[in-house]
Amino acid sequence: MKHSTKVGIIGAGPAGLTLALLLQRKGIDCIILENRSRQYVESRVRAGLLEQNTVDLIRELGASERLDKEGLEHHGVYLSFNGVRHRVPFKELTGGRCITIYGQQEVVKDLIQANLDRGIEIVFEAHAKHIEGIETESPSIFYQHNGEEHELTCDFVAGCDGYHGIGRQHLPKETYNEFRIEYPFSWLGILANVAPSSDELIYAYHERGFALHSLRSETVSRLYIQVENDDTVDNWPDEKIWEELSIRLGAEGWSLQSGPIFEKSITPMRSFMIDNMQYGRLFLAGDAAHIVPPTGGKGLNLAVADIRFLASALTNWYDNQDDSLLQSYSQDCLRRIWRAQDFSNFMTYLFHKQAAHGSFENLLQKSKFDYISLSKAQATTIAENYVGLKEI
Ligand code: FAD
Ligand code: PHB
Repeated sequence: MKHSTKVGIIGAGPAGLTLALLLQRKGIDCIILENRSRQYVESRVRAGLLEQNTVDLIRELGASERLDKEGLEHHGVYLSFNGVRHRVPFKELTGGRCITIYGQQEVVKDLIQANLDRGIEIVFEAHAKHIEGIETESPSIFYQHNGEEHELTCDFVAGCDGYHGIGRQHLPKETYNEFRIEYPFSWLGILANVAPSSDELIYAYHERGFALHSLRSETVSRLYIQVENDDTVDNWPDEKIWEELSIRLGAEGWSLQSGPIFEKSITPMRSFMIDNMQYGRLFLAGDAAHIVPPTGGKGLNLAVADIRFLASALTNWYDNQDDSLLQSYSQDCLRRIWRAQDFSNFMTYLFHKQAAHGSFENLLQKSKFDYISLSKAQATTIAENYVGLKEI
């Protein structure tokens, strides 16, 4: 079956869904093809930390009704090193910027609803198989849906299909360099029905490994611990998780409340990127082009930042037949991506256990941590990267 639209979007994650809303607002038709079911994408547990820029964009798109009610604004973060805790206040260090805690699956639910309310077509369970003609003015995406073969012809293809998607596979290899670090540790993440034990996030280095205390609401906590890459959730009964979290996050006069765990999963940690995100009529955005380790809370935010550039570039092309922003798309995105790569890598090395306790590398780690409380300049560097630079 043949279909056509102006912009064919592969992937209904945060990147694809925001792109469609921005294009629709400018009267540019698009169709989203999504591999999974609506129920699956709406319940996939992932990120929780939204930068100010991301929240601003969701508001601008008129999709923030629930986010405004249920999102939790945080004005600081606790950093801990073997039980010594230090707070980095965002407001005074960044001129009033902050982060908002709101689950990615809630963002995705809100964006899907906004897309459907505005008549944007999302084809769920549509498996994009290959793309043809990206060097021509009418590329096509070939996909399977309900056991049938389909072809979607468009002016542009947006590969918003994540790290494992097909978008990146269609970018000619000779057009980019690839960078990759696979870290020798993973995160075991849990969601638990228990009130958060801290009003702000706690990132902790401990000689037994990293731990992070985050949250989703006044009654749901989200926590992570560093585990080995070959570890499995079966090795982690609930009591062992709470015990380990309690040791690693521990500080004098503070205790961790435990409760029933209702989700457990292990995520590998990697830094990955390519230094060109486009070729002909194919443009990549979000995890399709870059992965950061979650220690900086940047992945979703970077995906949305790419989309701002892509939507402006496409709008400029349709409104003014001007392709200058399309030409500079990769370069425009890469400045923020490199900054986020550096910050996420810095936070990862600062808080994870890699070298033996008391070794040279470990004492450098401690010195870097101490420097945050000694120097306002260092605390400001962390704060402004963490809340996200406004312009870059
Ligand atoms: P995705 O969300 O991966 O969406 C891509 C979509 O494309 C998927 O729905 C997929 O099903 C679909 N797709 C793939 N292939 C095809 C195909 N062939 N045909 C059709 N559809 C296809 N980021 C933050 O900013 N803050 C955080 O606090 C944070 N914490 C995290 C914690 C964890 C444990 C993890 C795993 C990630 C975290 N991230 C965080 C990262 C964040 O979740 C991702 O960066 C974000 O999902 C990227 O959005 P995206 O739209 O680019 O890709
Ligand atoms: C989360 O709440 O899931 C979260 C928060 C901060 C991070 C990573 C994940 O750095």
